[in-house]
Amino acid sequence: MKDFNTFPRRVISHGPTPLESMPRLSQELGCNLFVKRDDCTGLGGGGNKTRKLEYLLAAASDAGADTLVTIGGLQSNHARQTAAAAAKFGFACELVLEDVEGTPKQDYYNNGNILLDKLFGANIHYLEDQQDCLEFADQLMISLAEAGKKPYLIPVGGSNEIGSLGYVRCANEVLEQIRGQDIRLDQIVLASGSAGTQAGLLAGLIAAGADIPVLGIAVSRDTQAQQTLVQSLLEKTLEHMELDPELAKGRVVADGSYYGQGYGITTPETIEAVTLCAQSEGILLDPVYTGKGMAGLIDKCRKGIFSAGKNILFLHTGGSQGLFAYREVF
Ligand SMILES: Cc1ncc(COP(=O)(O)O)c(C=O)c1O
Repeated sequence: MKDFNTFPRRVISHGPTPLESMPRLSQELGCNLFVKRDDCTGLGGGGNKTRKLEYLLAAASDAGADTLVTIGGLQSNHARQTAAAAAKFGFACELVLEDVEGTPKQDYYNNGNILLDKLFGANIHYLEDQQDCLEFADQLMISLAEAGKKPYLIPVGGSNEIGSLGYVRCANEVLEQIRGQDIRLDQIVLASGSAGTQAGLLAGLIAAGADIPVLGIAVSRDTQAQQTLVQSLLEKTLEHMELDPELAKGRVVADGSYYGQGYGITTPETIEAVTLCAQSEGILLDPVYTGKGMAGLIDKCRKGIFSAGKNILFLHTGGSQGLFAYREVF
């Protein structure tokens, strides 16, 4: 295995982020619930992408880039954190953003993450209906290069084997914190989208020889599609760390029962989860990712799938800035 500390990294995040208990939510649901506060990573409002960007920015710098280009939905937290990181390290930032059908519209175009993208000085390309974001981004890379810039393309969600390293690091942080607090975890739960967070976390646990089960609640895909995506990135991440990709076997578990009608479209259970966490723990979740992840966790506690007294860690991946784009659904 490659020495993890030799992967180039730009230190951005506040860390270690706290690992706290959630006593009032635990009482309500019957399991011992803990939360890893990666909503508090510090950069431009925080969230999981900050950890990925530590490695992606190092790669961009090594490639001699002066401009970061990335892709996402109009309310992408990844785009917001990329814009903030670009501002902090003096890169230009070009965001290719697409509308998401079925989302509430009163604040979607001007508030939440998009407001912050503009504040961080990003240049935003709004895609027209039917335009393919990957094709658009490829074309943009060409035009920027022709104009004498040195663009670096960060994939959707920062999810490749470089970005995932941020969550290998987080896995080590969690293992150290549970040892220090004398907690034996039975389960980790998180919201899973472009898969880098779950894949990185699993790679970190595997590398450390820890067998804590990780459940990814899919925010936009069915179980099989999400598992396939995570599996593929986990194998690539293990290879990048010079570990045997076979170690991924049997480790990827996702659940596609909670995403409702699609990416960015809230469900009644999501709204309940966001409200319950706010009112029992003073913790802000988000309507697109962590609200769905927490809805899955709540459902599994209530149904006894997570049995009473189990120690469950929810990885809070951030995103509460998106709440302000979804005012009318609350
Ligand atoms: C708040 C939040 N949680 C979870 C995720 C999902 O992370 P990943 O794309 O690594 O699966 C994202 C991705 O954008 C996010 O913004």
